[in-house]
Amino acid sequence: MDVDSAFDLILQGGDVVDGTGAPRRRADVGVRAGRIAAIGDLAAAATPPGGRIDVSGLVVAPGFIDCHSHDDWAVLDTPDMAPKVSQGVTTVINGNCGISLAPLQSEELPPPPLNLLGGGYRFGSFAEYRDAIAAQAPAVNVAAMVGHSTLRVRHMPNLDVPADAAQIAAMRADVEQALRDGALGVSTGTFYPPAAAATEAEVIAVCEPLSRLGGVYATHMRDEGNQVMDAIDESLRIGAALNVPIVISHHKLVGKQNHGRSEQTLAHVRAAAARQAVCMDCYPYDASSTMLRAERVDICDRIMITWSKPHPEASGRYLEELADEWGCSRREAAERLLPGGAVYFIMDDNDVRRILAYQDTMIGSDGLAADARPHPRLWGTFPRVLGHYARTLGIFTLEQAVFRMSGLTALRFGLRERGQVAQGFHADLAVFDPDTIIDRATFDEPETPCEGMRHVFVGGVATWLDGAPTGARPGRFIAERVGQAS
Ligand code: ZN
Ligand code: CU
Repeated sequence: MDVDSAFDLILQGGDVVDGTGAPRRRADVGVRAGRIAAIGDLAAAATPPGGRIDVSGLVVAPGFIDCHSHDDWAVLDTPDMAPKVSQGVTTVINGNCGISLAPLQSEELPPPPLNLLGGGYRFGSFAEYRDAIAAQAPAVNVAAMVGHSTLRVRHMPNLDVPADAAQIAAMRADVEQALRDGALGVSTGTFYPPAAAATEAEVIAVCEPLSRLGGVYATHMRDEGNQVMDAIDESLRIGAALNVPIVISHHKLVGKQNHGRSEQTLAHVRAAAARQAVCMDCYPYDASSTMLRAERVDICDRIMITWSKPHPEASGRYLEELADEWGCSRREAAERLLPGGAVYFIMDDNDVRRILAYQDTMIGSDGLAADARPHPRLWGTFPRVLGHYARTLGIFTLEQAVFRMSGLTALRFGLRERGQVAQGFHADLAVFDPDTIIDRATFDEPETPCEGMRHVFVGGVATWLDGAPTGARPGRFIAERVGQAS
């Protein structure tokens, strides 16, 4: 080996947590040409041009993959991606919950929840979106699914009915083209108004290209409350009919009467996993956040308004306070605030812990970057799992926590040579202090960066160095998927 040019940079003396769940081990990591070139004792190697960075006392982990992002527009609009880079995220997976930016061209912001992305519906094809990301080069890598609700808005003048044969054919053709253009799979959001009228048969017919071309079926299920078991069964039937892997998005149990039922849902999914590929993602909070829906305010006692078009001053205030001030019911207050977004304090932390600890749960933020006052998960998800759920509560080891944010995610979505600190893999890395890493974003101060994240590299280029952003934007579009014929 030519020692003079063996590496571009060396991370020296850290504890490597490799993203497989294996115990940490002390090793240097040498990076060359965007890849991990060597792991071991590199003390004898020549000093590389990028130097030796002393990371003793720190963990060197794979960069985190945010498997549940809504950063479709954020990666183009705010390409420095501070909320994610500051947490050690090196790849975001967009197009979740049935909502994708492409393919849809619309002068006006499309109906909720598509408006949660904040804008940017200007791409007539998935390829145009992919090319825009390649041209813009954000600070994180980007992979994306195509959203069924987006396709419904594109092809159906009336969203309140099941699609007819011609509309199904048009949506299916879009799915096929998007997969050929590099989409990771298809997501649905039958929980939401634009897709609530879609039947199981419609979803199966629209997603048919997944069976031939590969990719995941990710779903914000029809119900996460009283009918959650039926919703899981529907998802399992769709995945089985298509013979593709299922990702149950942000699994949770909403409504007091359903608290504790994660024992039942997880046992059911575990049993199904013996027959078919099914996994899930989860964010580490007992509050959800999405569009404000007046007809749903009664299922939740505490609701914080994140944004409101007619009442921007309501951002950060509680619905119950506003209803008192206005001398009306909570439901009437919600109607006055529409369109808007809200945080719903609607889950139980025992369910959150049980779901996080399930063997096949990936970590995804579900963060909404366009919110005036976002749910703190946007800035806090990954350090909160590491610091609060792993270190403080001990629901799993640090190694397991990292696995759920990197190696497992790359495996389930089919991202090749990512998600592990392994020789030859992309040099996407997160270097943090295992004793201090913690989220600092709260519901009152949601845009607060975490503590303890020291360095972050994307393809060997630092996006975060000594606890501060570098401004570098080395992110790429990743056009790979599980089950893809090569
Ligand atoms: Zn969702
Ligand atoms: Cu989502």
